[in-house]
Amino acid sequence: MGSELIYRGSETQPSSVSYSPKPVKPWASVTRTIHYLLREQRLLFVFVGIAIATLIFTVFPTSPAPYVAPHSRFTTLIPDSITYFPIETQQKFSSAHRLGFGSANPTSKIPLGLKRKGLRIVVTGGAGFVGSHLVDRLIARGDSVIVVDNFFTGRKQNVMHHFGNPNFELIRHDVVEPLLLEVDQIYHLACPASPVHYKFNPVKTIISFILLQNLITGLLQACLAKRVGARFLLTSTSEVYGDPLQHPQKETYWGNVNPIGVRSCYDEGKRTAETLTMDYHRGAGVEVRIARIFNTYGPRMCIDDGRVVSNFVAQALRKEPLTVYGDGKQTRSFQYVSDLVEGLMRLMEGEHIGPFNLGNPGEFTMLELAEVVQETIDPNAKIEFRPNTEDDPHKRKPDISRAKELLGWEPKVSLRKGLPLMVSDFRQRIFGDHKEGSNTNNASSS
Ligand SMILES: NC(=O)c1ccc[n+]([C@@H]2O[C@H](COP(=O)([O-])OP(=O)(O)OC[C@H]3O[C@@H](n4cnc5c(N)ncnc54)[C@H](O)[C@@H]3O)[C@@H](O)[C@H]2O)c1
Repeated sequence: MGSELIYRGSETQPSSVSYSPKPVKPWASVTRTIHYLLREQRLLFVFVGIAIATLIFTVFPTSPAPYVAPHSRFTTLIPDSITYFPIETQQKFSSAHRLGFGSANPTSKIPLGLKRKGLRIVVTGGAGFVGSHLVDRLIARGDSVIVVDNFFTGRKQNVMHHFGNPNFELIRHDVVEPLLLEVDQIYHLACPASPVHYKFNPVKTIISFILLQNLITGLLQACLAKRVGARFLLTSTSEVYGDPLQHPQKETYWGNVNPIGVRSCYDEGKRTAETLTMDYHRGAGVEVRIARIFNTYGPRMCIDDGRVVSNFVAQALRKEPLTVYGDGKQTRSFQYVSDLVEGLMRLMEGEHIGPFNLGNPGEFTMLELAEVVQETIDPNAKIEFRPNTEDDPHKRKPDISRAKELLGWEPKVSLRKGLPLMVSDFRQRIFGDHKEGSNTNNASSS
């Protein structure tokens, strides 16, 4: 009895069971090993998983490389829907021109599905001619833009199409007063740019450059405290070369400027601004960029500002004679605004401080420009000669080899292609908007 097994569940079990060892399953040792590995070597699996995922994302990239603002609190990724620069230049950028950007790894890839975060960018003078076109590009790229403008020469109409866009803010403010904003980038364009306007209050013009220190101190306060690390781009001018003795002008040329002339408030002001910008860079480690802009034209230019292209176009449309100052043999180069905006953005995103000449090397005398305007608008338009303005430079033509080589930039739009685009804007504003003034007589070749 003692050795007999007592069985109580007779319905499902056999009446008598004799012990036999369990059959050995062939996969038992494998299962045991797997259990052991899963229990004891979990970490190893995690590492292997990470390695495989990294390999997949590296071998099959799905998005372009990210742009991370230097020391920025924002990590930014380029959107896959919006093309920032033409593809070929985008590739150049991600490999060569972003290397100087803080801790960003220019070759790293964004995993599928992750989107680029927009930057927060201030554009001073963003309601002006160049500024408003720059704002359009930045907004289209997915950035948040804060325009700071006192509307001295700018117009709300230039940026009105962004009202209601949560990525757009407009602050009426004079940049000579400090302003504290935490941003990633600052494009500084605020400045009366035409002789008519900068000569209107020359003391304020030069003072505003000297007080640029306020702007930099205010806007970059956080940067100096190493909290934000905003990058500051100064829009300087070809006027820093004055009446140049070198032709074409290279960035290494120091210029030939009259320090006490009627244009000096602008020329010397911009030179001072360049000095201040570089001193903030050297002394306080502020990230800076300097663009030297040559004559630029396009839609939204102020009709009354007396700059030569806007002057000729407005005069031809109104059937007035084109006023040529001096003998009309002084030369300028004319850059379409979209080319300039492209150059400014490349400069801001690139690794080089500058200064960079941004201009179209095509050189025209004032008489040749008048001919192109006649061809485009009115072949019967007359030319009227007037005495030249004081200190009007004789020649102006940028050497853009540095921008070509280091920014991969050169203008694409010729004068004959760009001018009609400006003409249709002017036509609409002159004949459709009676608020625009009618006096365009005070011209110069600038
Ligand atoms: N357009 C060109 O051919 C050219 C050539 C060389 C340099 N630049 C430089 O490019 C920048 C933009 O020029 P633009 O042609 O668009 O001129 P613009 O006059 O159309 O724009 C300048 C803007 O700055 C604003 N502004 C002026 N003073 C200000 C102040 N103190 N505070 C706040 N806002 C102020 C004006 O209201 C305007 O909106 C300027 O710095 C100019 O010197 C332009």
